[in-house]
Amino acid sequence: MKIFVTDHKGAEHELEALEGWRVMEVIRDWGIGIKAECGGACACATCHVYVDADWLDRLVPMTDEEEERLDDAMAVKPTSRLSCQILMSDELDGLRVRLAPGSEPEEMAA
Ligand code: FES
Repeated sequence: MKIFVTDHKGAEHELEALEGWRVMEVIRDWGIGIKAECGGACACATCHVYVDADWLDRLVPMTDEEEERLDDAMAVKPTSRLSCQILMSDELDGLRVRLAPGSEPEEMAA
Protein backbone atom coordinates (compact mmCIF):
# COMPACT_ATOMS: atom_id res chain seq x y z
CA MET A 1 0.00 0.00 0.00
CA LYS A 2 1.05 3.58 -0.57
CA ILE A 3 0.63 7.03 0.86
CA PHE A 4 1.30 10.39 -0.76
CA VAL A 5 3.02 12.97 1.39
CA THR A 6 3.69 16.61 0.55
CA ASP A 7 6.74 17.80 2.45
CA HIS A 8 7.48 21.22 3.96
CA LYS A 9 8.96 22.43 0.68
CA GLY A 10 5.87 21.46 -1.28
CA ALA A 11 7.31 18.35 -2.96
CA GLU A 12 5.09 15.29 -3.13
CA HIS A 13 6.45 11.85 -2.27
CA GLU A 14 4.89 8.48 -2.95
CA LEU A 15 5.81 6.24 -0.02
CA GLU A 16 5.40 2.52 0.45
CA ALA A 17 3.55 1.87 3.71
CA LEU A 18 2.90 -1.25 5.74
CA GLU A 19 -0.32 -2.29 7.44
CA GLY A 20 -0.39 -1.36 11.11
CA TRP A 21 2.30 1.30 10.83
CA ARG A 22 1.60 4.80 11.99
CA VAL A 23 1.58 7.34 9.16
CA MET A 24 4.16 9.32 11.17
CA GLU A 25 6.49 6.30 11.20
CA VAL A 26 6.17 5.84 7.45
CA ILE A 27 7.04 9.51 6.84
CA ARG A 28 9.94 9.43 9.31
CA ASP A 29 11.40 6.12 8.14
CA TRP A 30 11.48 7.23 4.50
CA GLY A 31 13.51 10.22 5.57
CA ILE A 32 10.92 12.88 4.83
CA GLY A 33 11.58 15.52 7.50
CA ILE A 34 9.10 15.30 10.35
CA LYS A 35 9.89 16.25 13.91
CA ALA A 36 7.59 13.81 15.75
CA GLU A 37 9.39 14.63 18.95
CA CYS A 38 7.55 12.25 21.28
CA GLY A 39 7.91 9.26 18.97
CA GLY A 40 4.20 8.63 18.60
CA ALA A 41 2.93 8.96 22.16
CA CYS A 42 0.40 11.69 21.29
CA ALA A 43 2.35 14.05 23.53
CA CYS A 44 3.99 16.63 21.27
CA ALA A 45 1.83 17.63 18.25
CA THR A 46 4.97 17.90 16.07
CA CYS A 47 3.66 15.21 13.74
CA HIS A 48 0.80 17.50 12.63
CA VAL A 49 -0.45 16.95 9.08
CA TYR A 50 -3.32 18.19 6.93
CA VAL A 51 -5.30 15.31 5.52
CA ASP A 52 -6.64 15.59 1.97
CA ALA A 53 -10.35 16.45 2.24
CA ASP A 54 -11.34 13.36 0.24
CA TRP A 55 -9.72 11.15 2.85
CA LEU A 56 -10.76 12.84 6.05
CA ASP A 57 -13.97 10.89 6.56
CA ARG A 58 -12.24 7.57 6.01
CA LEU A 59 -10.00 7.98 9.04
CA VAL A 60 -10.79 6.66 12.48
CA PRO A 61 -12.22 9.64 14.40
CA MET A 62 -9.96 11.56 16.74
CA THR A 63 -9.68 10.54 20.36
CA ASP A 64 -10.09 13.23 23.04
CA GLU A 65 -6.38 12.92 23.64
CA GLU A 66 -5.53 13.72 20.02
CA GLU A 67 -7.96 16.63 19.99
CA GLU A 68 -6.42 18.12 23.13
CA ARG A 69 -2.91 17.69 21.79
CA LEU A 70 -3.85 19.35 18.49
CA ASP A 71 -4.80 22.44 20.48
CA ASP A 72 -1.06 22.92 21.01
CA ALA A 73 -0.27 22.74 17.30
CA MET A 74 0.28 25.73 15.01
CA ALA A 75 -2.09 26.65 12.18
CA VAL A 76 -4.73 24.03 12.96
CA LYS A 77 -7.34 23.51 10.22
CA PRO A 78 -10.48 21.37 10.01
CA THR A 79 -8.37 18.78 8.16
CA SER A 80 -5.67 18.63 10.84
CA ARG A 81 -4.66 15.32 12.38
CA LEU A 82 -1.68 13.95 14.26
CA SER A 83 0.01 11.52 11.90
CA CYS A 84 1.12 9.25 14.76
CA GLN A 85 -2.52 8.57 15.54
CA ILE A 86 -3.37 7.31 12.04
CA LEU A 87 -2.70 3.59 11.59
CA MET A 88 -2.24 2.24 8.10
CA SER A 89 -4.82 -0.24 6.85
CA ASP A 90 -6.10 -1.38 3.46
CA GLU A 91 -8.78 1.29 3.52
CA LEU A 92 -6.10 3.98 3.69
CA ASP A 93 -4.16 2.77 0.66
CA GLY A 94 -3.52 5.96 -1.35
CA LEU A 95 -3.98 8.36 1.56
CA ARG A 96 -2.78 11.91 0.92
CA VAL A 97 -1.42 14.21 3.60
CA ARG A 98 0.59 17.43 3.73
CA LEU A 99 3.04 18.20 6.53
CA ALA A 100 1.83 21.15 8.60
CA PRO A 101 3.92 24.05 9.96
CA GLY A 102 5.58 23.19 13.26
CA SER A 103 6.40 19.62 12.28
CA GLU A 104 9.73 20.53 10.65
CA PRO A 105 12.74 18.85 12.19
CA GLU A 106 15.11 21.23 14.07
CA GLU A 107 17.54 21.61 11.17
CA MET A 108 14.78 22.79 8.82
CA ALA A 109 13.05 25.05 11.32
CA ALA A 110 16.23 27.06 11.97
FE1 FES B 1 4.22 13.29 19.14
FE2 FES B 1 2.59 12.42 17.23
S1 FES B 1 4.71 12.14 17.39
S2 FES B 1 2.10 13.57 18.98
